[in-house]
Amino acid sequence: MEARMRMMMAMTLTLLSLPAAAQDSRSGRVLAERWCMACHVVEREPRSATADGVPSFPAIAVKPGTTAASLDSYLSTGHTRMPDFQLSRGERNALTAYILSLR
Ligand code: HEC
Repeated sequence: MEARMRMMMAMTLTLLSLPAAAQDSRSGRVLAERWCMACHVVEREPRSATADGVPSFPAIAVKPGTTAASLDSYLSTGHTRMPDFQLSRGERNALTAYILSLR
């Protein structure tokens, strides 16, 4: 009985520590569909920019200069052609994880 309890605890811990990045990217996708889809292609396909030159998320993900840090700093500031969403750190992390998951 004791051993079984211990095993169950271990399993629960494993589940709880499952990749935070995977959870982040899932909530990031929800945020992207809510806030970013108006301008960006936020799905995996197609990889093209929209007609007015807004880069798609998959295209952003594969750009050589794109890193978690570069996305985070981009999303921390306002941009001329992009609204300043005043994203929280958690929202930035989720969106960054989602964009990078499209690689
Ligand atoms: C009103 C339209 C609009 C919305 C909404 C929008 N964007 Fe953008 N975004 C742009 C444009 C346009 C660019 C291209 C850069 C520029 O010209 O300023 C851009 C560029 C970017 C870039 C940099 C691309 C690169 O080449 O490095 C990132 C990252 C990005 N957007 C993320 C987001 C995220 C995340 C959201 C949702 C929270 C979002 N955008 C919502 C219009 C928008």
